[in-house]
Amino acid sequence: MSKGKPMHGMTKARGCSHVRLGNFCKLFPKLPTWAKDCGIKHQCEAEEIAEVLGGPGGIMHDAESSSPDGTLPAAYTFFSQFIDHDITLDVRSNLHGDELPTADITHLPNLRSASLDLDCVYGLGPEAMPFLYDQSQPGRMLVGNDVNENDLPRNSDGRALIGDPRNDENIFVAQLQLLFLRFHNRRIVGRTFEEAQEDVRYHYQWLVLNDFLKRVCDPTIFSYVQGEIASGNYPKCSLLDDCHRICMPVEFSVAAYRFGHTLVRSVYPANGEYPVIDLFDERFGTEGFSAVPPRLTVDWRYLLDVEECHPYVKSKAMDHLLADELIRMPDPIVGRFASENDRSLAFRNLLRGYVLGLPSGHRVAHAIKDKGYPVDPDADLCFHDIPGWPCLDKKLREKLEHHTPLFFYLMREAGVLGGGQRLGPVASAILLEVFGNMLLNCDSFLKKDGWKPDKCLGGEDFTLARLVRYVNDA
Ligand code: HEM
Repeated sequence: MSKGKPMHGMTKARGCSHVRLGNFCKLFPKLPTWAKDCGIKHQCEAEEIAEVLGGPGGIMHDAESSSPDGTLPAAYTFFSQFIDHDITLDVRSNLHGDELPTADITHLPNLRSASLDLDCVYGLGPEAMPFLYDQSQPGRMLVGNDVNENDLPRNSDGRALIGDPRNDENIFVAQLQLLFLRFHNRRIVGRTFEEAQEDVRYHYQWLVLNDFLKRVCDPTIFSYVQGEIASGNYPKCSLLDDCHRICMPVEFSVAAYRFGHTLVRSVYPANGEYPVIDLFDERFGTEGFSAVPPRLTVDWRYLLDVEECHPYVKSKAMDHLLADELIRMPDPIVGRFASENDRSLAFRNLLRGYVLGLPSGHRVAHAIKDKGYPVDPDADLCFHDIPGWPCLDKKLREKLEHHTPLFFYLMREAGVLGGGQRLGPVASAILLEVFGNMLLNCDSFLKKDGWKPDKCLGGEDFTLARLVRYVNDA
């Protein structure tokens, strides 16, 4: 798209343009990588460590479902996944490749716009992607299909017609996508498409900052950032490239924001009739990128505090453990010929961290402290208390305790310093830095003086539960 001439239905550039894609980058490009600190010379050495920590039966595998429940309602797990699919997508880096130099990472394209613009819902707008829109009612999003009106629109192969295919990766994130499509369709009444899109985006951005991030981040770091924003000292790191696009730091996309993986449970309620289904359930053919059968239409009251006194499930605790369903991901997600290790999301996260040259947790903690955040970079993460840790080879243990892979460090930080209920200070700082960049540099409600959510949605008390109630009341 040319710089100064937005198409109809697309947001005009203000600072950064919503629709312009950028590249990946590093928050702290000068730090040595974890592999360098560990003296790793070859990819297979990194792979061995990723297997010990993240492979099936490894330190991060919650094989016995011993990780407790957190306090976060389970629906936020899929909201966090939905947010991810709005801001970051790497399809280029090679999971089994060598470590990439920083210069190559800055050329790696991010196939989502790094701004909270809901490109996963709107795509590139009604003119560029008409197949996402209801042609019989201009400006409305397409919803439902012949088999289930409470599902996403799908083509004859069953593939969802949506802005980001990953929002069909499990039935819960697919139903959340449907919720946002319906939210738009309700908000467009009496508005033009552009007005409705802005209104939906602002409400969504409010939810991300004042509902979701407030719940998952360390409260001291959250208040610190609020103060810094008020005094104009935020963000601390500039993520704008020469073309005024926001680059997506790999410390966020490959480590800190993958914290959502630890929230995932192996089983969920879909509704009152089906109170226990596997995340990927063979019985219903819902093993990823599959239509939602009418009987599994999700009743959010079972995953969120939508209705007073209605019981709902919580997310798994935030810690270093990943549920069995994510350690043995099914064919539709990883492909038929994937190895046992490649089926494990913990293994993939760690190996991807090596390939994309992440620094160690300790290095990042010190760099965050140097930026002024109130964190203790030498906090004791009690590695010896981790089940299975004392059985690791002594040399490997020492190496990992001094140079901890960033993803493992941040998840352990959540388990120990966040008590499993929220992220620790370092991960919170990374999240707020990146979301702060997106909200303060792109078109957002923060730049619209006095903007507040609609009173019908609870005004300043707007939450995900209020959104569900509002859409369901329609
Ligand atoms: C619900 C089950 C989920 C599954 C099956 C899943 C699966 C995956 C897979 C297969 C990848 C690519 C891994 C790689 O090869 O590097 C990935 C990436 C990622 N996931 Fe998840 N995920 C889930 C939930 C979440 C949640 C809840 C979050 C939210 C915080 C999240 C955040 C991310 C991020 C940030 C990436 C990197 C995206 C990119 O830059 O390409 N995921 N996920």
